[in-house]
Amino acid sequence: KRLLLGQTLSFSANPLRQPWEDCVRFDSAGGVLIEGSRVVAVDGAAKLQSAHPDAMVVDYGDALITAGFVDAHMHYPQTGMIASWGKQLIDWLNTYTFPEEARFGDRAYADTIARRTCDLAIAHGTTTLTSFCTIHPESVSAFFSAAAERKMAVVAGKTCMDRNAPENLRDSAQSAYDDSKRLLSEWHGKGRAHYAITPRFSPTSTPDQLAALGALWSEHPDCLMQTHLSEQHPEIAWVQDLFPDARDYLDTYEAFGLLGPNGLYGHAIHLEPREVDRLSEVGAAVVHCPTSNLFIGSGLFDANGLAKRGLRIGLATDTGGGSSFSMLRTMATAYEIGQLRGTALHPSQLMWLATEGSAEALHMSGQIGHLGTGAMADITVLDLASTDAIAQRTARADDIWDALFPTIMMGDDRAIKDVWIAGERASAA
Ligand code: GUN
Ligand code: ZN
Repeated sequence: KRLLLGQTLSFSANPLRQPWEDCVRFDSAGGVLIEGSRVVAVDGAAKLQSAHPDAMVVDYGDALITAGFVDAHMHYPQTGMIASWGKQLIDWLNTYTFPEEARFGDRAYADTIARRTCDLAIAHGTTTLTSFCTIHPESVSAFFSAAAERKMAVVAGKTCMDRNAPENLRDSAQSAYDDSKRLLSEWHGKGRAHYAITPRFSPTSTPDQLAALGALWSEHPDCLMQTHLSEQHPEIAWVQDLFPDARDYLDTYEAFGLLGPNGLYGHAIHLEPREVDRLSEVGAAVVHCPTSNLFIGSGLFDANGLAKRGLRIGLATDTGGGSSFSMLRTMATAYEIGQLRGTALHPSQLMWLATEGSAEALHMSGQIGHLGTGAMADITVLDLASTDAIAQRTARADDIWDALFPTIMMGDDRAIKDVWIAGERASAA
């Protein structure tokens, strides 16, 4: 038994759907009791200490204990080329992304980048990654292996592409189906691994490939399916050209069995009313990738509007289209995008998106992204005064939100005081 003491923040409901005051549980002298790999109690420090005098105590003082961050969409193979200059989506893919992804047929290289990405995630307080891999099956095994070494719960899948990509990055409808099926049976449910069927996006899949992956999903409806949707205007126009019969971008997935409650649609910025209706009717999830949406020049995601429509929304770095490994930086950019859309997201809403929201998008509510009884003990401890700039501002804060917001806006990996994964300490305090 371990007892973590500090300020604690957890959620009982979604603060994007009802007043945030009704959704948060904050304790300025709180405790989190861990037994094995799980949280068994979140309560007042004094109460937990007297009830569990035998527990090993880790006292974090006035640091904030929260659920570990959950990144709901990223590309681990792009870690090495993050922050590449000067291109928007299609040119960015062709110039920077595809040449880098072509290297992942080499298992040793894939292992190196997979391990590096997991370590960077942990250093930034992220305990779950949801990743695209490359077309190479080796890239999938490399990622699941690196995550397993660190006991991280992850979601990932082989990225499928059989057109509009360099020859060395193309599979076929049949091999995409066969490889995905084999990887799925090898990895899905093994330890904390979750397989996601992963067509990159409609422009790089033939109708045959989309249909094959739709068929695979119907054989494994419990699996997630991740892809990209309506990220950038030229991309949407291209999809219209490639699929002249489709009603809209989402229809290119829907027509091939790739729309469902376990679907995870990255970006989803420029949606038609019909697309929002359908996503909401089927109970699909969309993923907000704020730093990427600004970095690649895509547009302003409507977090507030889509949450009000009942959509589940995850938050994500979208590394390396995203320009940061940090979910704090990602929350900051989500805030700024909210400002440009005329809605100031409250710190509780930002924290919710980075933990519970992403977990809900992944259908893992209560297991990850949650600081509460029964959840896996994936925990991040935030130093709310990690730099002089932040500390001088936090010093005049009069409540937890005023104390936390400077770290959301200005914090980085220096704010990560400690990380626990599956009940074990993942980094030195
Ligand atoms: N759309 C298709 N592939 C990608 C990718 O790798 N990154 C981003 N941001 N969008 C995409
Ligand atoms: Zn992406």
